[in-house]
Amino acid sequence: MKNLISITDFTKDEILKILSLAGEFEHRPYQPILEGKVVASLFFEPSTRTRLSFESAINRLGARVIGFSDTSSTSVTKGESFHDTIMTISNYCDMIVMRHSLEGAPRYAGEISRVPVVNAGDGANQHPSQTLLDLYSILKTQGRIDGLNITMVGDMKYGRTVHSLLQALSQFDTRFTFISPPELALPEEYRIYLRERNIPFDEKTVIEGSVSDSDIIYMTRVQRERFNDPIEYERVKNVYVLKNEMLEGTRDNLRILHPLPRVNEIDYGVDNSPKAYYFPQTENGVYVRMAIISYLFGVK
Ligand code: CP
Repeated sequence: MKNLISITDFTKDEILKILSLAGEFEHRPYQPILEGKVVASLFFEPSTRTRLSFESAINRLGARVIGFSDTSSTSVTKGESFHDTIMTISNYCDMIVMRHSLEGAPRYAGEISRVPVVNAGDGANQHPSQTLLDLYSILKTQGRIDGLNITMVGDMKYGRTVHSLLQALSQFDTRFTFISPPELALPEEYRIYLRERNIPFDEKTVIEGSVSDSDIIYMTRVQRERFNDPIEYERVKNVYVLKNEMLEGTRDNLRILHPLPRVNEIDYGVDNSPKAYYFPQTENGVYVRMAIISYLFGVK
């Protein structure tokens, strides 16, 4: 029984296998190879893309979905513990996909559940299925993953998609630029992670002058829900707004990714740029999640 809790749970070969499977599913997006299976979709924290693309993937694989998109209709409101909730639901299904605001909650669920657990995002920690769809999007737009300049912009501190993606890309030949205000700089543990693997990286505070040799700009939202101090959020919330004029002089192959949701960090005018890829990126999530689920069930 294999869980997907952190992107580091998958080897490079497994990552490449998932990307290859995703390509097969994109080619044939309805494959009822999981008929009779039940997948529980447990979202203790809000989601649009992750939950609905997982549920779409489950349906396209012929399996059934049970679950909840918030806990207000569950016995969590009566005081039932996380432990008892997972112990119970794992008796009703063949796999659990879960999101939680607490870092480590999916790891703990994986330890007590009798069925595989997929982390659909835990606090500021990890978002491995997003990382796999980000890698698939990079591969589709660039034709390769090795040898790319990846520029990440926004919240490097609390951004779980940043943390997962930099760990996955560290298995490839990657050069990073991280652009954030000092308050949202990359945590030291991730700097150490990169240095130990001899992955080159720069840290900057402004977009202007920093993206001329980027192959990918990975924009992120400053996440209000991660701040304890609302004044600190107000100070940094609009620090970066990507505009078309900032893309002048950038490489032709540059593509802009964003895990979404967007708040203000990409001007709506950029949506019409041929370099904008964040909405096609959402579609890739369905094929990648079909690949993850079928791989963990061992049917692909
Ligand atoms: N990318 C992402 O995790 O989006 P949602 O929060 O809408 O699932």
